[in-house]
Amino acid sequence: MSTVVIVGAQWGDEGKGKIVDVLTQKADVVARYQGGNNAGHTVVIDSEKYVLHLIPSGILHKGTKCVIGNGVVIDPSALLGEIDKLRSRDIDIDNNLCISQNAHIIMPYHTAIEREQEKSKKIGTTGRGIGPSYTDKIARCGIRAIDLLRPALFKEKLKANLSVFNYLLENLYKAAPLSEDKIFDEYMDYAQKLEQFIADASLLINREIAAGKNVLLEGAQGTLLDIDHGTYPYVTSSNTIAGGACTGVGIGPTKIDRVLGIVKAYTTRVGEGPFPTELNNDLGESIRQRGGEFGATTGRPRRCGWIDIAGLRYAVSINGLTGIGLTKMDILDGMEKINLCIGYQHEHKFYESFTTDLEVLRNCTPVYEEIPGWKESTIGIKEFERLPANAKAYIKKIEELLKTPIQIVSTGQKRDEIIIREEQF
Ligand code: GDP
Ligand code: IMO
Ligand code: MG
Repeated sequence: MSTVVIVGAQWGDEGKGKIVDVLTQKADVVARYQGGNNAGHTVVIDSEKYVLHLIPSGILHKGTKCVIGNGVVIDPSALLGEIDKLRSRDIDIDNNLCISQNAHIIMPYHTAIEREQEKSKKIGTTGRGIGPSYTDKIARCGIRAIDLLRPALFKEKLKANLSVFNYLLENLYKAAPLSEDKIFDEYMDYAQKLEQFIADASLLINREIAAGKNVLLEGAQGTLLDIDHGTYPYVTSSNTIAGGACTGVGIGPTKIDRVLGIVKAYTTRVGEGPFPTELNNDLGESIRQRGGEFGATTGRPRRCGWIDIAGLRYAVSINGLTGIGLTKMDILDGMEKINLCIGYQHEHKFYESFTTDLEVLRNCTPVYEEIPGWKESTIGIKEFERLPANAKAYIKKIEELLKTPIQIVSTGQKRDEIIIREEQF
C-alpha cells in the first residue's frame, strides 16, 4: 500500500492526466488537491479521448473512488457539465465521486472580476475565476461546498460578497452588475444536483490510507506556476507543489510515500511570464505542431522550448521528487540535435538552479548542452531496452543531471504507450 503524489514539474501540461490514468490501474482512490477547471488533463484510451478539468483522471477506471479535495476551487456549472459528459459516455460517477465539503466555490462575480482585471494585469489566465475565488478563500469570505447546502447562510454570504463585487464592477470597471436573485436560484439548483457528492473528504481519504489502500494524489498545473515558489506573479493561485497535496486533501506529510514528478521531454508554457528556454522560431513552431501543443482548456497555442534542467533541479528539490515520469519522448523523434539547458548565465553569475528573480529569468542566457537526437520512431515502445540508443542516452543524461530516476517513460498519447521501469504501488 502507498500514497503517491503526481505533480507537474514544469509549467503544466506535462501529461499528468495520462500518467494518473495509467497508475490508477493499481489505485483505489484518486484525489485532486488544488486548482480548478483551469486544468485540462487529457487521457486517450484506444481511440477515445477524454479531457478532465475538475474530476480526477482516475474516473475512467471502473470502481475507483475519485475525490475533489478541499484545496480545489469548484465552478459548479463546469463540474456538472463534466459529470453529464462522462455519464453520457457510460462512466459511473454516482457511486465514485466525492467532493470535499470544504472546497471553495467559484461564483459568477469571480469570473466577471477576473475578466476586468485581466484587461490591465495581463497574467494570461484561463479566465475561469480561479484567482478571485482563492482570494476570497484567504480573505475568509469565500463560499464552501457545504455552504451550498445551507440556503440561508449561502444567501447571506452571497449578499455580502456581491455588494463589494458589484461596487467594483460598476464603479471601478464600468461593467454591468450581477443579479443576486439570479445567482441564488442558479446556485440552489447546482446545490440540489451536487448534494449527493458533498462529504468530509479528508475523513474518507484518511480512512482509506488506514485501511491499507493505494491512494493517488493528482496535482494540477505545475511547480513553476506555484503561488509561492513559481514565477510570481505569472503563476496560478494555489500551491501546485507536492506540499500542497497535504493541505489540499487533509492528510499528514508522514502519509506520503512517493512523489512522482511529471516532466515533458521539452518545455511548454501557456500565458504570460518568463521562459528562458523558449524557442521563438521555426523549431518552436514545429514542436508545437508535432506535439499538438494547444491548450486543453482554452485552445491557446502553448509556447515551446528545450528542456530546462535548471528548472527541473528546482522541481526535484522543492517537491522532494522520488522519481520522474518522462512524457512525449516521441515528439523529439527525428530531431538532428537536442539541447538541454543546464543553467542560466546572467551578467557575471551562473545559475545552476532556477530562480524566482524575474529579472534574471527574463535577461539570462540559457547555457545548453547539445546531444545527438535519434532517427527512429519511439511511438508505442513498451520496453526501455527497445528505445533507440540516443533516446536512452537522453533519458540517462536527464537522470544523471537531476540525480533522480526516470521511473516511467511515456511513448505516445494512448494508455498502453508506456514504459514502466519502476512500479509506484
Ligand atoms: P496535463 O495537463 O499535465 O494532464 O497534460 P495535458 O493533457 O494538458 O497535455 C498533455 C498532452 O500530451 C495531452 O494531449 C496528452 O494526450 C498528450 N500526451 C501525454 N503523454 C504523451 C506522450 O508520451 N506522447 C504524446 N505524443 N502525447 C502525449
Ligand atoms: P494543467 O493542470 C498550463 C496558467 C495560465 C496562466 C496562469 C494563471 O492542465 O497542467 P489561472 O487561470 O490558473 O489563474 O492562470 O496559469 N495555467 C496553466 N497552464 N496548464 C494548466 O493546467 C494551467 N492552469 C493554469 O495559462 O498562465
Ligand atoms: Mg493540461
